[in-house]
Amino acid sequence: MAIFFDEQKEIFRLTTEHTAYFIGIVDGTYVGHIYYGPRMEDCGCGYLLRTKESPLPPSENIWDKAAFADAFPYEYSTWGVGDFRNPCLCVRTAQGSRTCELSYESYRILEGKPDLPGLPSAFAGENGAAETLEIVCRDTCIGLKVILRYSMFADSDALMRSVLLVNEGEEELYLERVLSACLDMDDESYQMLTLPGSWARERHMEYRPLRHGSQEVSSQRGISSHQAQPFVALTTPNITETTGEVYAMHFVYSGNFQAQVELSQFDTVRMTMGIHPQGFEWVLKPGESFAAPEVVCVYSNQGLRAMTHTFHELYRNHLIRSRYLHQKRPVLLNNWEATYFDFDADRLLAIAKEAGEAGVEMLVMDDGWFGKRNHDHCSLGDWQVNEEKLPGGLAALTANLKKLGMKLGIWFEPEMVSKDSDLYRAHPDWAIHIPGRELTMSRGQYILDLSRPEVIEYVYESVAEILRNAEIAYVKWDMNRQMTEIGSTFLDAAHQGELCHRYVLGVYELQERLLKEFPDLLLENCTSGGGRFDPGMLYFSPQIWCSDDTDAGERLAIQEGTALLYPLSTIGAHVSVCPNHIVGRVTPFETRGYVALGGTFGYELDITKLSEEEHRLMREQIALYHTYQPLIREGDYYRIASARENHQYDCFSVVAKDRSEVLVTFIQTAARANYHSRKIRLAGLNPRAAYRWQETGEIYAGETLMMGGILVPPLMGDYAGRLMHFVEVR
Ligand code: DGJ
Repeated sequence: MAIFFDEQKEIFRLTTEHTAYFIGIVDGTYVGHIYYGPRMEDCGCGYLLRTKESPLPPSENIWDKAAFADAFPYEYSTWGVGDFRNPCLCVRTAQGSRTCELSYESYRILEGKPDLPGLPSAFAGENGAAETLEIVCRDTCIGLKVILRYSMFADSDALMRSVLLVNEGEEELYLERVLSACLDMDDESYQMLTLPGSWARERHMEYRPLRHGSQEVSSQRGISSHQAQPFVALTTPNITETTGEVYAMHFVYSGNFQAQVELSQFDTVRMTMGIHPQGFEWVLKPGESFAAPEVVCVYSNQGLRAMTHTFHELYRNHLIRSRYLHQKRPVLLNNWEATYFDFDADRLLAIAKEAGEAGVEMLVMDDGWFGKRNHDHCSLGDWQVNEEKLPGGLAALTANLKKLGMKLGIWFEPEMVSKDSDLYRAHPDWAIHIPGRELTMSRGQYILDLSRPEVIEYVYESVAEILRNAEIAYVKWDMNRQMTEIGSTFLDAAHQGELCHRYVLGVYELQERLLKEFPDLLLENCTSGGGRFDPGMLYFSPQIWCSDDTDAGERLAIQEGTALLYPLSTIGAHVSVCPNHIVGRVTPFETRGYVALGGTFGYELDITKLSEEEHRLMREQIALYHTYQPLIREGDYYRIASARENHQYDCFSVVAKDRSEVLVTFIQTAARANYHSRKIRLAGLNPRAAYRWQETGEIYAGETLMMGGILVPPLMGDYAGRLMHFVEVR
């Protein structure tokens, strides 16, 4: 990793082990993007900015500066001076103008990586070397300073970008659009890879061709959302796991976002990412600054796998702070699909008793333990234990669980208030709403206005008070609706456009405080399943509930899309009963375990209703978890075959960092009559090592496993699965 400025050529060079990023200054003013790709070092690449061909730069062609602006590959685009592609920045002045033009002013190269105030961002960590380039630009007409930040770590090929705005003028500025990153390149017949979805159908990989004009993936729901992951990648055609180029951006943010790819009249592409401008406006007083959240950029010319590994390593080494990152997570049983709201202490303890005997280590009490919450239309905000359901409160429950050798985890939905709640009756103003306009109900609840300091205080104290008074090892932090009628009675008219961003900052502040006061807490974020599965939340919780769809078949595609970016150790996955509550599908109990092992692993069922055979299988699964969890948590993930593509089977593997073992998960989604075994080529092994297939005792050469493959015999039935473990013979 190194950042270098060639003073003579006015070129910045940023290199990681395998990549290089070049930025050039034209006319001493315009900051242009020269190159992002495989590592090279030659600063003689400035000609790639095409400054010797028409339209010439303004120093030689001032009579047609607009033509230059219309084509120049800007590092950070602005609106109003001739660049008619998507802008990163749009600033309104007190006089009402919206034009902004940035001129290069200076640069700094810093050791380390500065934090972003109030925002999650990648950090160097104790032993990680980092370097940061700050390019300072200015619009002198409006007194705005813009600092473009680029950071890299010694052990990563990722490039982190963010932007800091400072009002150094005399008047207020109104930020209408502040994106975090822009990448202008020539088109190479790119296709766009995104992870669209829906509730219970999150993050399915999807490719689309680029068309002239702008295409986007975005969320205006107040959360990053089930529908759109804050991720976009451009890939060369026919990209595979190991061949082809990919340019990816992933947003470290948990609210509204917009990622656009614009194919221009000259067949250049502009890729941008940042906070969604819809409804956004931030008042920047003289002297104030605004930090745009971080975008992680990853480039690979070795196909998707290298991109995935770069994201996984970055998030494991530089984003997830939890002490549980490298620890075995307890085997938990969550009572949601077991009981929904219909439980009391006796029922929970009956489940816990059998679960404990099977090897479950923690009972997670989900929604329904507080206020009068026997259905989803009331009591959010009234965080007092319902002693009718739980006599003696949490103290009695934890004491009884302790006797069974089990810990307690608990569910909260802290950001919400039910219409039917004491909190709402006392403070209707605390809900996000617009006075005089009917507030749209969703799941019978409203969203609390986290821009209000007293709401932050109330929410924090409600959760903390419970945790202070009971031995709770784990919190599932849920969030179950999207934003409508976005208004705050706390903010004045000029600041209403800040609400969505202030809300996200409020969520971050709450979780930061919680983890400070309860450093041993294992936090799992959740948003109606995986509606806020984003790098921002990962900064606070080492695992996120992946989807409310616990069907093993559906989960293959959901977890595949999730694992495109996120390590398996972050993916909340549980075994549930069949027919599955969401899709009604019946899959073998074993397969449900194999799929859940590809995540954090746990149960979401009423064990008292399981057969003896299922009890036995459950004990076996838990033993598998104990055996394989260090490998799954710490190893390298490989996508091997996707049922999404071949409609017959799915296969992924996890290889130990030292390549001494590999666990292969194979699920046959559709059985086929009269057919031979499946040939599966493994990856990531030592070609010169020998490996023992533990289940058969057979020995294979690493190179044969990778080039020739293994033969998986046909299995009986749809969704039959198999785990295969290979260990190096030394
Ligand atoms: C949505 C979550 O995703 C579920 O797991 C469960 O906790 C429910 N909310 C409870 O209301």
